[in-house]
Amino acid sequence: MGGICDIGIVGLAVMGQNLALNIARKGFNVAVFNRTASRTQDFVKERVKDETIFPAYEVEEFLSLLAPPRRVMLMVKAGQPVDDFIQLFAPHLSSGDLIMDGGNSYYRDTDRRTKEAEDKGFFYLGVGISGGEYGALHGPSIMPGGHREGYLMVKDILEKAAAQAEDGPCCTYLGPGSAGHFVKMVHNGIEYAFMQSIAECYHLLREVEELPAPSIGQIFEEWNKSEDLNSYLVEITAQVLQYIDPDTGKPLVDLILDQAEQKGTGKWASQVALDLGIPTPTINQSVIARNLSSFKEERKRISALFPREEAEKSDALSLHLEKALFLSELAAFCEGFHMLQEASSEFSYNLNLSEVARIWKGGCILQARLLNRIQEALKEEPGLLFTSPLFLEKVKDCLPSLRQACTLALRGGIPVPALSASLSYFDSWKREWLPANLTQAQRDFFGAHTYRRIDREGVFHTIWQKEEKE
Ligand SMILES: NC(=O)c1ccc[n+]([C@@H]2O[C@H](COP(=O)([O-])OP(=O)(O)OC[C@H]3O[C@@H](n4cnc5c(N)ncnc54)[C@H](OP(=O)(O)O)[C@@H]3O)[C@@H](O)[C@H]2O)c1
Repeated sequence: MGGICDIGIVGLAVMGQNLALNIARKGFNVAVFNRTASRTQDFVKERVKDETIFPAYEVEEFLSLLAPPRRVMLMVKAGQPVDDFIQLFAPHLSSGDLIMDGGNSYYRDTDRRTKEAEDKGFFYLGVGISGGEYGALHGPSIMPGGHREGYLMVKDILEKAAAQAEDGPCCTYLGPGSAGHFVKMVHNGIEYAFMQSIAECYHLLREVEELPAPSIGQIFEEWNKSEDLNSYLVEITAQVLQYIDPDTGKPLVDLILDQAEQKGTGKWASQVALDLGIPTPTINQSVIARNLSSFKEERKRISALFPREEAEKSDALSLHLEKALFLSELAAFCEGFHMLQEASSEFSYNLNLSEVARIWKGGCILQARLLNRIQEALKEEPGLLFTSPLFLEKVKDCLPSLRQACTLALRGGIPVPALSASLSYFDSWKREWLPANLTQAQRDFFGAHTYRRIDREGVFHTIWQKEEKE
C-alpha cells in the first residue's frame, strides 16, 4: 500500500517550505515533515493555500503518504542532520526508494552516503540547489548527481520545479556520486569571487571618485544593461546600493557593518582546488577577503597606525572598472570550470561542462548573460575558456583596464585582492617563462628535491654549496 504523494520534503525552513510550494504548484502532491512539529503547523497554516501539500508529524506517517517507489528530498541543515534523517528513514525504506539531499553538503559526505544507500538497496542523489529562497519558490538552478536511476524517478518533478531558460530547464543529471554537490560547491566559489570583485569596484568608486552609494548603484545599473555584465549579482548590487533606510534616510549599505560572513562552501571550493592542484586565485582571495574582513577590531586599531595614502583621481575609472569587473568575473568562471574539468576526470564524474553553464543560466545566483558565451565556448574547448576564440580578443581588449584599475588601487593603498588575483592569473597564463626555475633550484639546494634542465633530458641534483674546509 502506498500513499498519493509524488515526493516528500523533509525540513521546513525557508528552502524546504519554498521548494514544497514550488513543486506543489507544478501539479504534484507533496508530503512534508519537519523535526519540530510547530514549524510544520505554522507552514501549513500560514503559507499553504490551494497547494496539494500533506503534512505529517511522524516518520511512519510521512513515509506512508508517499507513492512507491518513494521519493524523499532532505532540505535540512548540512552535516549530521542529513545522516540522522537517513538513519531514521533507512529501516522503513524499500529497495528502489530514493533519498535526495538538497542541502549544501560536502561532496565527500555525499560520496559516502551514496555508497551507504547503495549497500542498503535504495537510490541516492546529492542535489545542489542555487537561487536562495526566491529561487526555491519560483524556480532554482538544480544540480543533481548520484544514481542515474534515481534521477529518472524525479526527472519530471525536478525539471518542472527548476528555472526555465530559453533552451530548457535549469536542471540536468550531472554525473555519479557527488557530481551534483561538487558542481554546487564550485558554483559557490565562483559566487564568492564575483561578489568580491563587485565589492572592490564599489570600494574604488567610493574612495577614488568619492561617490555616494546611490550614484555607484546607478553605475552598476548601467553595467547591468551590457552584454558582458548583465547578471543577477550586478542587478542586485545596483538595487542594494540605491536602497535608502526608511529610519535614517541614509543608504542602508552605509549602515551595515563591514564584516562578511560565510557558511563555508566557498572555502571548500578553495581547499579542494588546492588539493586538485588547480589554480583558483580569484576564488581563494575572495575567501581570504571575507576572513580578513571579520577582524574588524584589529583593523580599526591598525588603521590608526598608518597614514592614509591619497588615491589619484582617474577620469575614466568607471569605464576601466566595467572592463576590469568583466575580466575578473571571467577569471572566476575560468578557474571554476578548470577545477570542474580536473574533478571530472579525477572523480570520474564525466561532466558535460557546457551543460553545467547552461543550467546556471536561470534561477541561480550566478545567472549572467556571459554564460551564453561560456556555454558555447565549452562545447569546443573545455577548461581554460578565456583562450576560446569567443573570449580571446575580448580579454586582450579588457586587460589594460584591469591593469589600470589595479595600479590605481595599489598606488592608493586600496586593497583589491580579487581584481589583482585575476590580473596575475591572466598574466601568469600568458607567460611562457615563469621564475619557477629559481624555486626548483632552491628546493634542490635545501632539500635535494632535484630539478629538470631545459638543455638535456633527465633529473639532476647539484651540491650547491662548497664544502667548508675544516
Ligand atoms: N538558505 C539558502 O539561501 C540556501 C540556498 C541553497 C542551499 N541551501 C541549503 O539548503 C539546506 C536548507 O537550508 P535552509 O536555509 O532552508 O535551512 P537551515 O537553516 O540550513 O536548516 C534548518 C532546517 O534543518 C533542520 N535541522 C537543523 N538541525 C537539525 C537536526 N540536528 N536534526 C534534524 N533537523 C535539523 C531544521 O529543523 P527544525 O525546524 O526542527 O530546527 C530545519 O528544518 C541547507 O543545507 C542549506 O545549506 C540554503
